[in-house]
This record gives sequence, C-alpha cells and structure tokens, in this order.
Amino acid sequence: MVRFAREEELDRVNELRKEVNDLHVEGRPDIFKPGFNDVLRDYIHEIWKDPGKEIVVSEKDGRICGFAVLNCISKPENPFMFARDFLDVDEFCVGKKYRRQGIAREMIDFIKEFAKEKGFQRLELNMWEFNEGALKFYESVGFKTYRRYMDMDL
Ligand SMILES: CC(C)(COP(=O)(O)OP(=O)(O)OC[C@H]1O[C@@H](n2cnc3c(N)ncnc32)[C@H](O)[C@@H]1OP(=O)(O)O)[C@@H](O)C(=O)NCCC(=O)NCCS
Repeated sequence: MVRFAREEELDRVNELRKEVNDLHVEGRPDIFKPGFNDVLRDYIHEIWKDPGKEIVVSEKDGRICGFAVLNCISKPENPFMFARDFLDVDEFCVGKKYRRQGIAREMIDFIKEFAKEKGFQRLELNMWEFNEGALKFYESVGFKTYRRYMDMDL
C-alpha cells in the first residue's frame, strides 16, 4: 500500500535514506560525504514540517519498504523562461530486500495521481549518471532525460 508517511515512521524512512546516501558515496566518493551524519538524519523532520513537501511511503506486511520525498515547485518567469510549476521527486528509494517486486512503480503511480490532483502537469527529478539501475527504472515508468549535467576531471 502506498500512502503518506506518519511521523513515527521517519526513523525507518531514515534507514532507507541512508541506503541512498551509501549508494551515492560509492558512486561519487569525490562528492558525497561518507556515513549518515546528524544533519542528514534530522533533515527528514524539516521535510516533514515543510508545507511544500510530502513524504510518501510504501508499506508491505506492516513494514515500510520504500519512500519518496516530493517537493512542490513553482518557478517564476525570468528573462529566459516562462513561469513553470512541477512536482519534483527529490528522494526515492525501495529497500534492497524489496526490489524488483513492482513497489517503486506503484509509488510512481501514486505520485502521478497526487500530482494531477494538485494541478501539476509535469513530474521532474534528477539523478546521478552512475546509477544505471535507477535510470532503467525511471525510463521504464516513462521519464525522459530533458537536461544534462556534464563534468570532466582535470
Ligand atoms: C531504482 C529503484 C527505486 C527501483 O525500485 P524497484 O521497486 O526495484 O522497481 P520496480 O520493481 O517497480 O521496477 C519496475 C521496472 O523498472 C525496471 N528496473 C527497476 N530496477 C532496475 C534495475 N536495477 N535494473 C534494470 N531495470 C530496472 C524494470 O523494467 C522493472 O520491471 P521488471 O522487474 O518487471 O523487469 C530501486 O532499485 C532503488 O531504490 N535503488 C536505490 C536507490 C536509488 O537509486 N534511488 C533513486 C535515485 S535517488
């Protein structure tokens, strides 16, 4: 079942956030700090209190097995761009033990419904290029790359 998180579930959500952080550290140790420091841990409570953000969880047999953080974004017009609103999927993870069972797909379906109810016409997210499994997943549920970050070691 996919639904919004309850406050008492945030410690479990943090276990999943740590999994994502570890994956990022492994993929880009030059950028991501190892471990899961107190600031990262406590940030989930800031997200919880923020009226522009939502925490979604997937629960199976009483266990939280996946989560997503959603961010309602409203960008004002600027000289280059029109104003645009979109729902940003800021963090997203299914616990290692629960993968390839369709849980992430179910969460995306829930997020799409929520976004439509809120009047959004686009979902957006960004991800790290080393994370091939995530790319395959996002493409399999319909996301397309519309912008790239590139870098070069010197
Ligand atoms: C990416 C992730 C969310 C996918 O979750 P999941 O619940 O395993 O995904 P689903 O079971 O819903 O997969 C749906 C489809 O996506 C594709 N897919 C999912 N994971 C894949 C992988 N690792 N490699 C290739 N294709 C993949 C497949 O087509 C899959 O269908 P199938 O299992 O019938 O072949 C999960 O692997 C994860 O949390 N990874 C670590 C954290 C992360 O990378 N988060 C996102 C970036 S911050």
